[in-house]
Amino acid sequence: MFWKKKNIMETPRLYLRKWIKDDFGDFKDLMMNPEVSNPAGMNPVDTELRARELFERSIPEEGTFAIVLKESGKAVGQIKFQDDFRRYKVNSISIGYELNQACWGRGYMPEALAAMVKYAFEVKAVDIISIGHFTINTQSKRVIEKVGFHHEGTMRMGFKRYDGAVLDDELYSMTKAEYLAQSEIFSNVQVLRR
Ligand SMILES: CC(C)(COP(=O)(O)OP(=O)(O)OC[C@H]1O[C@@H](n2cnc3c(N)ncnc32)[C@H](O)[C@@H]1OP(=O)(O)O)[C@@H](O)C(=O)NCCC(=O)NCCS
Repeated sequence: MFWKKKNIMETPRLYLRKWIKDDFGDFKDLMMNPEVSNPAGMNPVDTELRARELFERSIPEEGTFAIVLKESGKAVGQIKFQDDFRRYKVNSISIGYELNQACWGRGYMPEALAAMVKYAFEVKAVDIISIGHFTINTQSKRVIEKVGFHHEGTMRMGFKRYDGAVLDDELYSMTKAEYLAQSEIFSNVQVLRR
């Protein structure tokens, strides 16, 4: 399959690659579910037109990856590098992610996140990675814990969502030294190309 040449990262069960045109159905399934978009703090993707606009923007976006199941080729999630807007002039980056609800609870996102951490330190050569979740989002909390991030604290009233809800944020980070000290977490993920 031609898209296999486009894979950028590999984990035991997943490939991470750029979104391609044929993925639109999978993208729509992922993003049009409010159970996925609300905990991620996104504005609702409630029409096909809006999904299409978001998809067209995501395809060329630097640092945005589809999460693809090796066994089926289905794109079941998205993970992306984002600006770390909470740190000033530091060589840092942040990461955000969403997974199709039908695939929750199988440990896919910790695998994808581990690959992104490896990529950030080894290819992008950042000094620190920041990550966070709404305090109420205990599912994301577990993903971040499993990949070995250090909890920094709670930012009270950290984010106003589209629906007016003002939510507390849990903030975490990982330095390069911490990454190297827990190499077992990253031993089965690979960067295939830049
Ligand atoms: C957060 C998210 C990416 C987790 O991905 P995942 O691959 O399911 O992660 P895991 O399999 O490691 O499961 C994480 C936790 O979710 C919980 N969980 C598992 N299956 C679940 C299910 N079907 N329904 C609800 N929660 C579930 C468990 O507490 C699990 O922790 P455990 O392994 O210690 O039991 C996914 O739930 C998601 O896309 N949520 C909506 C978007 C979002 O919150 N993005 C992150 C914003 S910070």
